[in-house]
Amino acid sequence: MIYLDNAATTRPKPPAVGQAILAALEGFGNSGRGAHDEALTAARTVYDTRDKLATLFGCGSAERVCFALNSTEALNAAVTGLFGPGDHVISTDREHNSVLRPLYRLEAQGGEVDFVPADRQGQIDYADFEKLLKPNTKGVVCTHASNLTGDVTDIGRVGAFCRAHGLLLVLDASQTAGLLPIDMAAQGVDVVCFTGHKSLYGPQGTGGMCVGEGVELRPFKVGGTGVQSFSEIQPTEYPTRMEAGTLNGHGIAGLNAALDWLNEIGVDAVRAHDSALARRFYERVKGLPGVVVYGDWTAEVRAPIVTLNLGDRDSAMVSDELERRFHIATRPGAHCAPRLHRALGTQEQGAVRFSFGYFNTEAEADEAAAAVKTMAEEL
Ligand code: ALA
Repeated sequence: MIYLDNAATTRPKPPAVGQAILAALEGFGNSGRGAHDEALTAARTVYDTRDKLATLFGCGSAERVCFALNSTEALNAAVTGLFGPGDHVISTDREHNSVLRPLYRLEAQGGEVDFVPADRQGQIDYADFEKLLKPNTKGVVCTHASNLTGDVTDIGRVGAFCRAHGLLLVLDASQTAGLLPIDMAAQGVDVVCFTGHKSLYGPQGTGGMCVGEGVELRPFKVGGTGVQSFSEIQPTEYPTRMEAGTLNGHGIAGLNAALDWLNEIGVDAVRAHDSALARRFYERVKGLPGVVVYGDWTAEVRAPIVTLNLGDRDSAMVSDELERRFHIATRPGAHCAPRLHRALGTQEQGAVRFSFGYFNTEAEADEAAAAVKTMAEEL
């Protein structure tokens, strides 16, 4: 089987990830819930993981890395914790439902939200951020790269806009953490929400948020933290402010091993590898009769995603045929990105997404392109 659904979750994981999870299952107590060796072993690994993530994202302090189950949970916490009734937030049509649904809920609760529109090619005009500005605008929530087209948002530019107007910037780094450089201070990002199981190559159930200096988030959930037990309110210090209940210590141990693997190879090398495969596949399918590829392929930097349609065939049927006939795993449908599908005009057909990871090879990219060619010839 050729696995080309790495934008949903990278597969396989580096072997060290599974080994670290097994060792943690054997050896870990509950981090922050005791001072015996087993609890301390877990706590040290959890802290070390925070530290590695802080370095990766230019977060400044390990204490400001707060764990969550995934980007969705972190984005819910960021949107709920920063914005409320009367606040205006700017976002974009490129967003995933992990951003959209928290924002729609904010609207229902008396907040205001406007979206920078995407055109028929899925592109946004950065001047629109300025046009949507209102006296009560409090922040921008936007994705670093579309999970549908792979198009990258110029986050330094959005960060500069936010700084110029005193706005908070929340970044959805689901598709870019571990793939594109992220430097919160340099790019003007206040909160980075990330998941562990995509380009960080960690296990599912890991992720979180990095909270910039001076950013005050209302806790999303409250409960046991292992500290200040007699206080009736959640501790105000990060990370416990945003972490209630036992952490996914076993998963975090896996993420820690994944970060070691990633740091050894290097984010730039991983991106170069994945991007070369995506572009190789793109070059082989782009001109085929009946094949429509989405996204901006003139851009130098993209997430390694190639999304296409074959004539007017339903994307789910195409994806099923790719799997049954050619043993190629892709993701069809709406990709939880309804606004961008509407902009592209693919809300009925959906689209078939091929997404590349570090363990894919040129031969796999070529085989997938050959399968698309065969199917295109049969249209
Ligand atoms: N958000 C993930 C995707 O795009 C699951 O497939």
